Amino acid sequence: MGRLDGKVALIAGGGADGPPNLGEKLSIGNGRATAIVAAREGAIVMAADLNLALAQQTADAITAEGGKAAAIACDVSKEDDCRRAVAETVKQFGAMHLLVNNVGIAAGGSLLNTTTDQFEKVYAVNLRSHFLMMRYAVPEIIKAGGGAIVNVSSLSALIAGAGIAYEATKAALLGLSRSVAVRHARDHVRVNTILPGLINSSMVRREIGDREARVAPRIPMGRQGTPWEIAKAIVFLLSDDAAYVTGTELIVDGGLRAGEGIRRRTEPAQ
Ligand SMILES: NC(=O)c1ccc[n+]([C@@H]2O[C@H](COP(=O)([O-])OP(=O)(O)OC[C@H]3O[C@@H](n4cnc5c(N)ncnc54)[C@H](O)[C@@H]3O)[C@@H](O)[C@H]2O)c1
Repeated sequence: MGRLDGKVALIAGGGADGPPNLGEKLSIGNGRATAIVAAREGAIVMAADLNLALAQQTADAITAEGGKAAAIACDVSKEDDCRRAVAETVKQFGAMHLLVNNVGIAAGGSLLNTTTDQFEKVYAVNLRSHFLMMRYAVPEIIKAGGGAIVNVSSLSALIAGAGIAYEATKAALLGLSRSVAVRHARDHVRVNTILPGLINSSMVRREIGDREARVAPRIPMGRQGTPWEIAKAIVFLLSDDAAYVTGTELIVDGGLRAGEGIRRRTEPAQ
């Protein structure tokens, strides 16, 4: 018996856009790993992605393992696409219980190195989209008798260094999630946020390359996380194992945040 048996899950950003890791046939990021792990736990999955081919690869990987999945093109920065992704999920699978808002991008840098256009783009993709997806998904989840939502934030919600637009939107996501969680707790809709640390995902390999040797020494566990480790934490929050967990945040970072203070005390200032 799977922990998500009988549930229908929409994973926004369910593709994986970047080169595969060494030894992997299929490139894996947080979204694709979550879709696959949710399906292994019994969920029927709709993978939604800006790039339909990437979402289809995820759906194909699930069906190849004997699961049930479909793919849909969806640019989460467009309201109509968000509405359509939810409507199609319900149309194809009869209901919707679970939503994962995994899409997140970075652009610009510090305050003086970020254009208004960059800020607005990151806002539309990282925050407004999560509002829109929840706005369309929550009534459906209520109709289905309840369910759960996980919004993917970042450790950058709590610590600086990844650029003002990314940090601001990832921090605002905590408030967005709490607001929906509290308002809809009695509708049996749980909403939580996950804060990954440094994860070796397809997107990171595409945009930054192999950063393992550079960042591993900073992390108390001595390595980057894998998208599978993020997926398992997300699936926990989606499942009834987290039945009394709502309106909160889960940091999954190999001890990175907890270790920052020790690092500052023991290492010379740079
Ligand atoms: N990788 C990390 O180290 C890390 C750390 C902290 C937080 N996160 C967060 O985890 C999430 C996933 O990151 P990842 O690195 O695993 O990426 P990922 O491999 O899950 O890829 C994200 C997917 O989103 C899709 N996408 C991009 N823009 C879109 C749009 N407008 N509409 C729909 N789909 C779109 C991409 O095509 C890609 O398939 C993001 O929210 C990111 O901010 C990642």
